[in-house]
Amino acid sequence: MQLTDSLGRQINYLRLSVTDRCNMRCFYCMPAEGIVKKQHGALLSYEELLLIAETAVAIGIEKIRITGGEPLVRRGIVGFLAMLAAIPGLRHLALTTNGLLLAEMAADLYKAGVQRLNVSLDSLQPQTFSTITRGGDLQRVLAGLAAAERAGFPPPKINVVIMRGINDAEVIDFAEMTRAHGNPVRFIEYMPVVKEKGWQRYCISGDEILQRITAHYPLEPVDKGPYAGPSRDFRIPGARGSIGIITAVSGHFCSECNRIRVTSTGQAKGCLFSDAKTDLLPWLRTPDRKGLTEVLKSIVSGKPERHDISPDGYTHKNFKMSQIGG
Ligand code: GTP
Ligand code: 5AD
Ligand code: SF4
Repeated sequence: MQLTDSLGRQINYLRLSVTDRCNMRCFYCMPAEGIVKKQHGALLSYEELLLIAETAVAIGIEKIRITGGEPLVRRGIVGFLAMLAAIPGLRHLALTTNGLLLAEMAADLYKAGVQRLNVSLDSLQPQTFSTITRGGDLQRVLAGLAAAERAGFPPPKINVVIMRGINDAEVIDFAEMTRAHGNPVRFIEYMPVVKEKGWQRYCISGDEILQRITAHYPLEPVDKGPYAGPSRDFRIPGARGSIGIITAVSGHFCSECNRIRVTSTGQAKGCLFSDAKTDLLPWLRTPDRKGLTEVLKSIVSGKPERHDISPDGYTHKNFKMSQIGG
């Protein structure tokens, strides 16, 4: 079954956040003191999350990405992932993580049926990494990446939020990772979701990143697969991993958007940056599969055309990235 929105975009991808908690405090994502934690009862139970996933797959979702906060901090996550992996019709099960707990958990995640990992890694320098994450330990993330490959995963995709004056001197080091280690690396334009003044000073466009890389290496374009996300991908000839840019600010990819999201408290969103959300709880607490089917379809058909962030301005929205899962 194909799920299509009112603009003809095929929607086949659900981002499902399982918690808003995190064991890091990246400055572009959270205030230093963290966010007000939701009471545990406010989080959807695994049964409720499973009901959403099953219903979404029944209407045409083929790929689910589990996000957080940091999804691996939620107790029982491995068993939940195994239940998701068993949903008939689900073709891709992926997870986005900060990697801190991967060294311990990678083998179990692989056995549970997770197919791909995306790992957030903004610096290869211990001090810069610690500054960005407010105390995160780079070595643990690197150990997690190695454990993932030992467990059987393909080299995880690396997400680098690239910020002028903070980590932009490392563009070439990250590009080199695609050759030396075979990890796909995506440079993500910094999005102003924490209400900091002068956010534009951090912004570097995806085009500038590409220019810096092509000063060192030739790049060839890589075709997008059918479930591809917002990344525009290239490759240094001969490198195993691709290099991508996610131009959330300088260039919208909304016309190709293929996704909806549900937060860990059951708010469904047609667009990351839209204030519009639909509370799924009335259909979950009963539970009412038929009603849930209709409401998920209505979120797809009501997906906005595009978001409104641009380098010139942005109306701050009332959310933190960790509450939505990116
Ligand atoms: P793949 O499935 O591997 O393509 O991953 P993905 O890029 O869809 O997901 P990931 O969790 O790795 O997110 C990478 C970056 O893209 C994060 O910074 C997300 O916030 C951002 N992102 C993901 N989806 C959207 C979206 O719909 N709109 C915007 N503006 N950014 C998004
Ligand atoms: N701008 C860009 N990317 C962000 N992420 C979190 N906050 C931001 C932001 N303000 C990224 C994380 C992670 C992904 C899910 O979202 O680095 O890789
Ligand atoms: Fe945690 Fe990811 Fe937010 Fe960093 S960006 S604080 S790792 S949720």
